[in-house]
Amino acid sequence: MIDRSIVEEIKYRNDIRDVISGYVTLKRAGANYNGLCPFHSEKTPSFTVFTAGEGNFYCFGCGAGGDVVTFVMRAENLDYPSALEFLAKRAGITIPEEKNKRPGEVSRTRVMDMNREAARFFHSCLIGGKYPDALAYLREKRGFTPALIRHFGLGFAPPEWGSLVKHLKSKHFTEEELLAANLGAKSAKGTVYDVFRNRIIVPILDLNGNVVAFGGRVMDDSKPKYLNSTDTPAFKKRRTLFALNFAKDLCAQRMILCEGYMDVIALHGAGFSNAIATLGTAITEDHARLMKRYTKEVIICYDADEAGQRAADKAFSLLSEVGMETKILKVEGAKDPDEYIKKYGAGKFKLLLEGSRTRFDFKFSGILEKYDITLPAEKIKAADETAELISGFYSAVERDIYIDTACRKLQVPPDTLRADVEKKIRGRQKKEKNEELRRVISVSAGAGNRVNPDYVRNPAAASAEEAILGLILYNPELIDKICKEQLLTPEMFQTEFNRRVFTAILEAIHEQGFLEEGVLFEKFSAQEVGRITGMKVRRSTLTNNGADVLSECIGRLQQAKQKGNNIEDIEDILGSKRRKKE
Ligand code: UTP
Ligand code: MN
Repeated sequence: MIDRSIVEEIKYRNDIRDVISGYVTLKRAGANYNGLCPFHSEKTPSFTVFTAGEGNFYCFGCGAGGDVVTFVMRAENLDYPSALEFLAKRAGITIPEEKNKRPGEVSRTRVMDMNREAARFFHSCLIGGKYPDALAYLREKRGFTPALIRHFGLGFAPPEWGSLVKHLKSKHFTEEELLAANLGAKSAKGTVYDVFRNRIIVPILDLNGNVVAFGGRVMDDSKPKYLNSTDTPAFKKRRTLFALNFAKDLCAQRMILCEGYMDVIALHGAGFSNAIATLGTAITEDHARLMKRYTKEVIICYDADEAGQRAADKAFSLLSEVGMETKILKVEGAKDPDEYIKKYGAGKFKLLLEGSRTRFDFKFSGILEKYDITLPAEKIKAADETAELISGFYSAVERDIYIDTACRKLQVPPDTLRADVEKKIRGRQKKEKNEELRRVISVSAGAGNRVNPDYVRNPAAASAEEAILGLILYNPELIDKICKEQLLTPEMFQTEFNRRVFTAILEAIHEQGFLEEGVLFEKFSAQEVGRITGMKVRRSTLTNNGADVLSECIGRLQQAKQKGNNIEDIEDILGSKRRKKE
């Protein structure tokens, strides 16, 4: 656990509005700030930064919320200690190492030190001459030059079960640390052995050049072809992009997104140092946002097979959603970019890249291939699909250009096609609006919410509880009254989650003498913190938050016990919610 006073200093020196401004463009709205939520896709801002007190953020659309630490946890995908580390670094504060650990926990720094040592070991095994087959595989089968091998720090994991374990132990790393870094695994007998054996090793670096994970490929056809590190304290697969550490400074204009890291290495070898890849997972929203920070345009160049093209289409939607210019490039006559370059050379790939089609061209030629537009019935279908395709583009200018192109090819009047496109846009907008409304309703009512599954079973009690907790958080003086007059005990709470929140509040006060949000939030997950913040934020939009409202809510909670479910209460909350939005 990190020392309390250091946590306070870290929070004090990282102003919430300042930190969030690095991710979200904020506009002043009264005493607070508004912006587009970075945690879900939206077009109207429902993300708010509340600057009062220690500072909170809350999204009325998706329910994300918390303090500055919670924000960094979510935005950078870090756990609590790592988020503090991140903010400490930002403010130039040093956290004393021994305090930066839970008992039995291995720190990020330790894992990264160990990984660096392991990478050196694997690399020396590769070039040391003891395993000529491994080097021959990379040089001959993959066509990698010694310079390229060095650039990526490629290595080889020996076939024995304990070479790396032995090496790392000689460097004073413990078995516990080896397991935490996912470099060692424990056998049934209890011995720790190497996870990577007889594989070509690709070190995976983060943006600061730390070795955070490894990928290993077999040299024959055995399975699995690739083995990747699982998530460790230093590695989150869903937000790491292979070779972004190299590409990030070179690719302000565009990046090439591949499926495999061998594709990326081959592309870098051929002079395309703006190639990157995900690590054995489909692209996530985190990946998309990360790319957006470094480049304007992404060219997706996945495997040519059906699975690859389906994945490319998914990636396309995700990238467009975060507002990135995106194109799809399909290699012809080879299964992936790596093979393409080997077969046809870098020059030809460059031409392909220049001519890489926009998604519209790509999809539209698919439609033209599918239908025989000399037949009226098929022409109607083709026009309908084309209208659907064009309606999916957000920019009106872009849509106009595509409508022109499509009309010429399909030989239909532009006005007809335009009318079709507009009709489809209206349908789409209606659907999106409904979805957004549904989300707002479900967040505020807690229906289907994993955070408090008891909510739906007893909404009357749950809403009274949330009002009470919100009141306490918004106006902490009320807690003195509650304690002094014995107004409320944990047993009176009827939903388990809210009872847990109330108990945690009492504990925090017991430990510290007053209520500090940071201490409270530590005990909950990011999603739970969002929920708790929502309770407080909802109170801040209401005018009366005094002791009388508290008594009234406690009364409502006691009544709810007898009444059980009461749908009116949900509508109550929704009613106040809607009033607020208008
Ligand atoms: P591919 O099988 O397309 O890789 O998997 P590739 O680059 O063409 O491999 P080579 O050319 O045969 O060496 C693409 C990515 O999917 C993940 C890896 O991240 C790989 O880079 N993958 C694939 C796995 O994680 N495990 C596997 O068994 C296979
Ligand atoms: Mn390949």
